[in-house]
Amino acid sequence: MRILVIGGTWFLGKCIAEGALARGWSVTTFNRGRSGRDVDGVEPVHGDRTAPEDLERLARSGPWDAVIDTSSSDFAPRDVLLATTVLREAARRWVHISTVSVYQGWPHERLTDESALLECPADADETVGYTGPDGSPTHYGFQKAGGERAVTDVFGDTAVLLRPGVILGPGEYVGRLPWWLRRAERGGRILAPAPAEQRIQPVDVRDVAEFALDQAASETSGGYNVTHPQGMTFADFLRECLSVTGGAGKPVWVEPAVLTEHGVKQWTELPLWRTHAGVWAVDSSRAAAAGLRCRPLAETIRDTWAWLAADGRPVDHPRWAAHGIGPEKEEKILASLG
Ligand SMILES: NC(=O)c1ccc[n+]([C@@H]2O[C@H](COP(=O)([O-])OP(=O)(O)OC[C@H]3O[C@@H](n4cnc5c(N)ncnc54)[C@H](OP(=O)(O)O)[C@@H]3O)[C@@H](O)[C@H]2O)c1
Repeated sequence: MRILVIGGTWFLGKCIAEGALARGWSVTTFNRGRSGRDVDGVEPVHGDRTAPEDLERLARSGPWDAVIDTSSSDFAPRDVLLATTVLREAARRWVHISTVSVYQGWPHERLTDESALLECPADADETVGYTGPDGSPTHYGFQKAGGERAVTDVFGDTAVLLRPGVILGPGEYVGRLPWWLRRAERGGRILAPAPAEQRIQPVDVRDVAEFALDQAASETSGGYNVTHPQGMTFADFLRECLSVTGGAGKPVWVEPAVLTEHGVKQWTELPLWRTHAGVWAVDSSRAAAAGLRCRPLAETIRDTWAWLAADGRPVDHPRWAAHGIGPEKEEKILASLG
């Protein structure tokens, strides 16, 4: 197999490039050379995906059996359309990394692979879409929905759309699991979002990567939700964080209404906490039937801690800094409980 990874130096794209090399595939990566560094063993091509001349130069390094596009999170549908159009003759298949945010019902409703999508044209610019007052739908979701349309318009039944929920694992630059791990390490009374038995279903970056590679090598098409089928409860999640870090801490489970009253921001101040009914109710049975294998989340937690502990530094990324409640605010809320 000969594949092109758009991105390939950062979190998911890096895992995909490493996984493909481990399978003995030949891998070209395309990025600007700013985030991370090219994985040893790939054929790197440097350029900007928004520049037609860079994409045309890239196309001359083909052909490929498949393109895996991991880098579309900050790009408008028309940028995705540009890349798919310029690379159409150079690639047989296109595996696109999308998101569950493309669904109209996310995060309010239970979702399947057939749920209704947000509407956004394939040639939309970055102005199309909006974020609702309660944080849903999102401008990001509209843009990613338009990106999906750009892929299917050009690659038709050789297009695969992967829709992960939250992705965690070694290299996670967003800072969700890293924050909980550092908080667990610090110990003491830990502000935790009730109910403790709420199941969460993040997926390991390495499992998304393997599934993307399987899809690159298959003849399938269409959309797949990529979420952890079993997940784990928040209580087990915090227990594992305490166990791997050796933190002497005890979660104090606080009702959502109390957290809201104190102005705790969902999703960021207490990462992975969100009260909407559908946020952790995304069915991924189509992916499971197509071979998605999700490791136990305890392994994700353990390996992320090993990565954090070995590296020791926060990742220099704006999203990292936006995660986690400050110690004073946390202490104030805990003190108010008596
Ligand atoms: N993280 C999550 O929880 C989550 C959840 C659901 C879906 N997703 C989706 O998963 C995908 C992967 O996300 P990610 O966070 O691993 O990667 P990402 O931040 O979307 O992409 C980063 C990669 O793209 C390259 N890149 C950025 N701008 C570029 C440009 N103009 N031209 C060429 N390459 C460019 C970067 O290298 P350079 O900067 O060096 O160019 C880097 O290799 C995204 O599509 C995201 O929407 C993520």
